[in-house]
Amino acid sequence: MNGPAAIVRVTGLRKSFGANEVLKGIDLSIMPGEVVCVIGPSGSGKSTLLRCVNLLEKPSAGRVELLGVDITDPDADIDKVRAHVGMLFQSFNLFPHKTVLGNLTLAQVKVLGRTMAEAEEVAMRNLSHVGLADRANAYPAQLSGGQQQRVAIARSLAMDPRLMLFDEPTSALDPELVGDVLAVMRDLADAGMTMMVVTHEMAFAREVGDRVIFMDDGVIVEQGTPAQVIGSPSTERARLFLHRVLHPIDIADSELGETEPIDPVLDRQEWDALHHEEPAD
Ligand SMILES: Nc1ncnc2c1ncn2[C@@H]1O[C@H](COP(=O)(O)OP(=O)(O)OP(=O)(O)O)[C@@H](O)[C@H]1O
Ligand SMILES: [Mg+2]
Repeated sequence: MNGPAAIVRVTGLRKSFGANEVLKGIDLSIMPGEVVCVIGPSGSGKSTLLRCVNLLEKPSAGRVELLGVDITDPDADIDKVRAHVGMLFQSFNLFPHKTVLGNLTLAQVKVLGRTMAEAEEVAMRNLSHVGLADRANAYPAQLSGGQQQRVAIARSLAMDPRLMLFDEPTSALDPELVGDVLAVMRDLADAGMTMMVVTHEMAFAREVGDRVIFMDDGVIVEQGTPAQVIGSPSTERARLFLHRVLHPIDIADSELGETEPIDPVLDRQEWDALHHEEPAD
């Protein structure tokens, strides 16, 4: 079988912090252009998995291949591989003392060796993509959280990544700013970017995800299309989690045994409402 090579291939991945084993044997491949959304309860190991993929956490056992390179091999040139991987976290990691443009050009010049003129051209192109070309000379503190997160995405994109990792990029944002960031991520997915996205945004996972992975307690409990995993989960654990996320108000622990089927329309309406908002400037 000679299909295209996987962008990410994780085999038998385990990670312990002291005596606490938080990843208990993860197998996962992500193919070029695929958008994989990872969902699951707090503490289930989602962030740890994402960080192991980028080797920000060192696995306790198992193997992680990134862009065809075994980065768990002690001889691997990790920095070289990592230069092709963009990572976005919950909080914005912009340099506060640099302008938006300065934030976008820095690594291009330092890591990729581009000239400043090239770097600025690439920066402006990517700022346009996220709707913020007119804020190139602003400082991060002068932008809203959502705008800062879009700048952070543009900064990653300026490095021509082959894979983007997102760890709940909208969860620190005010609700009215979430839609603009999700829209940028959706555009990125439409443009063919390979993405691994830890998210609580079920509407995003359903609409943009090619595959949804439900994690609990350090293992992948189920995975499949969004319609399968979010629409009709096959395990009780996934069903309870989704009910909790989609119906955060009407849940009581005593009722967990008898949840209703999930209403797929519910957060779809929220998503649509957000979609039709113009980017705030
Ligand atoms: N650096 C660390 N040192 C010790 N324990 C850690 C460390 N990072 C994570 N853990 C533990 O590993 C477990 C999984 O954490 P992780 O952050 O991966 O969960 P998560 O699924 O991302 O949760 P959340 O949805 O709250 O972000 C937790 O019990 C956490 O306390
Ligand atoms: Mg997390």
